[in-house]
Amino acid sequence: MTERQSIHGQWSSRLVFILAATGSAVGLGNIWKFPYITGEHGGGAFVIVYLLCIAVVGIPIMMAEIMLGRRGRQSPINTMADLSKEEGANGGWSLIGWSGVLAGFFILSYYSVIAGWALAYVVRAGAGTFTGVDAAGIQTIFNDLISDPERVLAWHTLFMLMSMFVVAKGVKAGLEKAVTYLMPALFVLLIVLVGYAMNTGYFVQGLEFLFTPDFNKLIYECEVVAGLEQCEISGSPVLVALGHAFFTLSLGMGAIMVYGSYMPKKTSIAGSAVLIAGLDTMVALVAGMAIFPIVFANGLEPGAGPGLIFQTLPIAFGAMPGGHFFGTLFFVLLVFAAWSSAISLIEPAVAWLVENRNMTRIRASVWIGLTTWVLGLGSVFSFNIWSGDEFKLFDRTFFDLLDYLAANIMLPLGGLLIAIFSGWIMKTAASQDEFAMRPAGYKFWWNLIRYFSPLAVIAVLVYANIPLIKGLKVLLTSSMISSQQVIGIV
Ligand code: TRP
Repeated sequence: MTERQSIHGQWSSRLVFILAATGSAVGLGNIWKFPYITGEHGGGAFVIVYLLCIAVVGIPIMMAEIMLGRRGRQSPINTMADLSKEEGANGGWSLIGWSGVLAGFFILSYYSVIAGWALAYVVRAGAGTFTGVDAAGIQTIFNDLISDPERVLAWHTLFMLMSMFVVAKGVKAGLEKAVTYLMPALFVLLIVLVGYAMNTGYFVQGLEFLFTPDFNKLIYECEVVAGLEQCEISGSPVLVALGHAFFTLSLGMGAIMVYGSYMPKKTSIAGSAVLIAGLDTMVALVAGMAIFPIVFANGLEPGAGPGLIFQTLPIAFGAMPGGHFFGTLFFVLLVFAAWSSAISLIEPAVAWLVENRNMTRIRASVWIGLTTWVLGLGSVFSFNIWSGDEFKLFDRTFFDLLDYLAANIMLPLGGLLIAIFSGWIMKTAASQDEFAMRPAGYKFWWNLIRYFSPLAVIAVLVYANIPLIKGLKVLLTSSMISSQQVIGIV
């Protein structure tokens, strides 16, 4: 096969690819979502499953996505269509690309709303609103923000405009230079926060929460109702951990594939994937180490939900010397982290419109930004006018549903198909040529992608979703909890 060229250009170096992909991976997922879902699912055991998923599912699938992208050199839809033709397989594999475009829409629509909260917090931190704030005070500030649909809408609009602007300019000319300085700065600030957390007197408790596993927490989801802890059997924590491994590494929808399509030929795929996943995981763990001590020191609830970082970190900034400056800087950097992730969520769709509809990047970005913005209204309202039970489905708001569907169902399914395609459909000669790895390393990846990663994804999906198996679990485990009361099966 003659090597393909991307019509969208190429990253200028290996470093630029690493920066762009790390910029995509490190975002709200690490600093906002990881702590809050870890808090909701009880800490330690959840974190262990998440780390396992990163290692045995995330890294091999990231390698597969980069490899497919670099071989196809087009938007994920066309890359999958071409590569399947090349392998003599069914053209239906381009479904991976289509479902990815849809998942990207879904995710960006609410991602932008949360990034909007971060934008709003830049202004509040800058104005000194957090100085000396206590837990009750920050809760009021946060609730005032999210319960005002017009204000949240304005910030969501601004963030969508920022994202469209960069995508319109082209990924290369856009954010990557900023990312070079901003990502390390964000990391340093997280370390400053950990330093503060160490002085709260609750650092050890925070670490214990993050790293001491209680595996019952993966089987039962509990909540306190009228002073009594009531638990339900649920496979959902394991699925959430798997879904988050995909989410935080930007996998399963073609974002890393499209970035791989702009990657120079000589760059090592395995080395890049391990580095990106390692950096991403480090940021999430450090964020957790900063946040949970503050949660416990202030008597807050780890399971507070999506508002967790917005209700905890300002307390730290409000109390530490130089907090006015650090706090403002932190939220600015958080916005940048979200920004460099958001652009990768629409890049697959934009690349496709440019290839197949002959649009300019500007036009394509505007169309896609507009559609995403409209869908985002559902998430804007999920925290105020649509927060009531009459607007919920399966006990979830529009925002929760969209996040659950995209991150926990669509991304793992997309990842599963990517694993099957690259392990079973693609000839080994092709993938071997693209990876250019030592035989032992290649063999290791090949075994993971053929057997281990797909089986792990299938096992988790089945475990979390089949009622029959849940019934079985009741039989097996009901004797294990004596102090807790099983009230039903989710
Ligand atoms: N990984 C980003 C984060 O952790 C979010 C993100 C960017 C993403 N691109 C993606 C998630 C593609 C899933 C798929 O914040």
